[in-house]
Amino acid sequence: MHSANVVLGCQWGDEGKGKVVDRLAESVDVVVRFQGGANAGHTVMVEGDTFVLHLLPTGILRESTRCLLGPGMVIDPWTLLTEIDELKGRGLEVEDRIAIAGSAQLVMPYHKRFDELREKALASKSIGTTGRGIGPCYEDKMARMGLRVADLAREDSSLRRMAIDKVLRANRLLAERHDAPAMASGAIADELVELAQRLRPMIVSAYEYLAPLRSGQWSALLEGAQGALLDIDHGAFPFVTSSNCTIGGALTGTGISPRDLGRVLGVYKAYSTRVGNGPFVTELHGDEAEDLRSRGREFGATTGRHRRCGWFDAVAARYAADLNGLDEIILTKLDVLSGIETLRVCTDYEIDGKGVRNFPVWLEQLEKSRPVYRELPGWTEDLSGMTTWDQLPENCRRYVEAIEAEVGVRVEVVSNGPKRSNWIERP
Ligand code: IMP
Repeated sequence: MHSANVVLGCQWGDEGKGKVVDRLAESVDVVVRFQGGANAGHTVMVEGDTFVLHLLPTGILRESTRCLLGPGMVIDPWTLLTEIDELKGRGLEVEDRIAIAGSAQLVMPYHKRFDELREKALASKSIGTTGRGIGPCYEDKMARMGLRVADLAREDSSLRRMAIDKVLRANRLLAERHDAPAMASGAIADELVELAQRLRPMIVSAYEYLAPLRSGQWSALLEGAQGALLDIDHGAFPFVTSSNCTIGGALTGTGISPRDLGRVLGVYKAYSTRVGNGPFVTELHGDEAEDLRSRGREFGATTGRHRRCGWFDAVAARYAADLNGLDEIILTKLDVLSGIETLRVCTDYEIDGKGVRNFPVWLEQLEKSRPVYRELPGWTEDLSGMTTWDQLPENCRRYVEAIEAEVGVRVEVVSNGPKRSNWIERP
């Protein structure tokens, strides 16, 4: 295999992409993350140890896999070094396998400050961001004002001057827009200069670094963060993140051409969750929501927030499959549904009494949408020890088949637990 397969979240993030990428990373030369930043929290369990990665591609847990933080990412260098040091502290040799694209943007402390202040100002209309400075950093990128990873390779005095200029500009905006106190430009610039010493050896041109992929010597896995319904252009704006989590982002965020793309794998959870605010048509409330949340341990890996929980939404799932041109589905956390007597899959929406098959992309319509459910009988068996498709209870297989029929893409793998070995390939 000399091409780049892509792993994409196809709901609202938290589909279990971390585990999927970890599993598939074993057999590729390089894993490339292409968008987002430390808003992501990819949780992976390896032989009883749990790792949560925010910035590093999940391939880092496979000792012979290279990892590139791609040009489309927004990278908080403070968080990145903390993450690297944590892995080193746990005995993993990582630094010589990490490459960071020079054209990725740097998330600075003032981006996080703006994120926090803006959310506060929005009050009840807030987006519920992760507070990691993602939106403000992408804003600076689009305004062509941001600092890039390549700037860390400048001489210390030049980097220091640039950083001070950026903080002073941010300070003016903090005062004008939020009446907020200034940040310490000298201290931030000094810290950045110090961090740069360690990060410099990892900085690359993504174009040059990925040359072996273009010439057919390397295989790659492109790792998405968040999910299709949080995509800046295709999600329920403004309740979205600030990057393209769909297939286009995998191209622009890496510089890989469509010619080098292999299979597009969509990751879906067997039910739905969402953190942050915004419409969620199949959301459950009260005891039912609490039950699903505790079964699935649905608490955010980045912020610890409760995830909102609901039934599988095939209307949204079809939309994500179409946007991404999925070749296959990997369905995660199927084991969580064991013991629920009746399961529901939302097949259509109803808006003002009319049936709707296509996902409404405008917020107003989405807010008025009501779910139309198909009910399916559940199963009681614990799935975690099962290793083949045929061992799965019949009702469980039927549930998976109902999902693939509604979405129109074959489920090739189901994940039946957090361990690497909980992975059942369809015959
Ligand atoms: P931001 O990306 O921090 O700006 O947050 C924007 C929206 O995306 C909020 O609803 C967040 O909760 C959501 N979000 C961002 N990253 C993730 C993620 O990795 N998993 C799930 N939701 C996310």
